[in-house]
Amino acid sequence: MIVLGVESSCDETAAAVYDTEKGILSSVVRSQIRDHAPFGGVIPELAARKHIEAIVPITREALKQAEISLKALDGIAATFAPGLVGALLVGLSFAKALAWAAEVPFVGIHHLEGHLLSPFLGPEETHPHFPFLGLIVSGGHTSLYKVIDFGRYERLGKTVDDAAGEALDKAGKLLGLPYPGGVAIDKLTLEGGNPRAFDLPIGLIQRDNFNFSFSGLKTALVYTLKKMGYGGKSSEPPPENLVRDLAASFQEAVVQALIRKAFFALEETGLGELVVTGGVAANTRLREVLARKSRKSGIRVIIPDTKFCTDNAAMIAFAGGRRLQAGQRDLFSLNAISRLALETL
Ligand code: KG4
Ligand code: ZN
Repeated sequence: MIVLGVESSCDETAAAVYDTEKGILSSVVRSQIRDHAPFGGVIPELAARKHIEAIVPITREALKQAEISLKALDGIAATFAPGLVGALLVGLSFAKALAWAAEVPFVGIHHLEGHLLSPFLGPEETHPHFPFLGLIVSGGHTSLYKVIDFGRYERLGKTVDDAAGEALDKAGKLLGLPYPGGVAIDKLTLEGGNPRAFDLPIGLIQRDNFNFSFSGLKTALVYTLKKMGYGGKSSEPPPENLVRDLAASFQEAVVQALIRKAFFALEETGLGELVVTGGVAANTRLREVLARKSRKSGIRVIIPDTKFCTDNAAMIAFAGGRRLQAGQRDLFSLNAISRLALETL
C-alpha cells in the first residue's frame, strides 16, 4: 500500500510517501522557523498563511521524489489534530480535496500517534516492541504514553503547564538568544556552559504521578537574572559566560525532570523499552544522559533519527498506512481539532 502523508499542525509544512512494503519513498519538510524567528515564537496566523504557500509545491516534490503519480496512491493521510486550527486546516483540507480528486481513500491522523510510531520509520533492528513507553518532547507537547499496540495508547502523564521545548524557548528569550531557544541552549552548553553553575529547581519530581511542570523553572530563571541585576527591559544583557552557564543549568534541570519522570514511569509500569521523540529529543545532553541511564538500567532506549523526531509527514503516512490497512476510512466531513486526547480515537 502506497500512502501520501500530509502534516501542517504547527510550523512545518510536510509531505511524504510511505510504501508499507518498501518503507519511505520520500519525505519533504519545509520549516517556517525563519518566518517566526523575528517574533520569538510561532504566530498562528502567519503559520497558516505560510502553509498555504508551501502545501502544493511540497506535496508535488514528495510525489516527484517518490516517482509516483497521484493516481497510483492507495490512500492519503493528513494530520487532523491536535495543533493550530488554521494551520491544521490547510493540510487537512488540501489532503481531503486531493483524495476526492484522485478517488483514493482518506484517513485523518492524530499528530501524537505519528510521533509515537516514528521509531518504526527506522531500520527494523531499531524498531520498538509493544508495549513500550513513549516520551514525546517538543515545543508543543511533553507527554508520557504507554504504547500498547498500533492504535492503542494510554496516556500516563503530561506537562501541567509549559512543554519542555516551550520552556527552553522561553529561557532562550530571557537570555537574549536567537529563536528557537532550545537549539541555542544546546549549542551554548556544548561551548562550555556549566550545568552545575546554578541550582535551578527540577519540576515535579514527586514520585506520585507522571506529570511534568516547567513553569517554576522558568520563574526561577527570571528571579536568578533579577537578583544579579539583569532581566529588566532597560538593563544590560548578561555577559556571555553567564548566559552560557545559565543556559546549561536550565537545560540540565529540564533534562533531569524528563529523565527522572520517564524512568520512574518505566519502573512503575515494568516496561522495558523507552522511545523518545519530538524536537527536544535532538538535545545532546538529553541523549547523553539517556545513553548512560540505558547502560545502567538495561532499559532499551530508542531515539528515532532527528529528521523523524521533529515534525514530518513520514510519520503521518506511516500511521495512515497502518490505519488504512486496518480498513479505517474517514469522511470528508472530518474537521480540524486543536485539542484532542489520543485515547479518544
Ligand atoms: O517537534 P518540533 O520540531 O516541533 C513541535 O513543537 O511540534 O520541536 C520544536 C522544539 C522547539 O521548542 C525547539 O527549541 C526544540 O524542539 N529543540 C531542541 C533542540 N532542537 C529542537 N531543544 C533542545 N535541544 C535541541 N537540540
Ligand atoms: Zn510534533
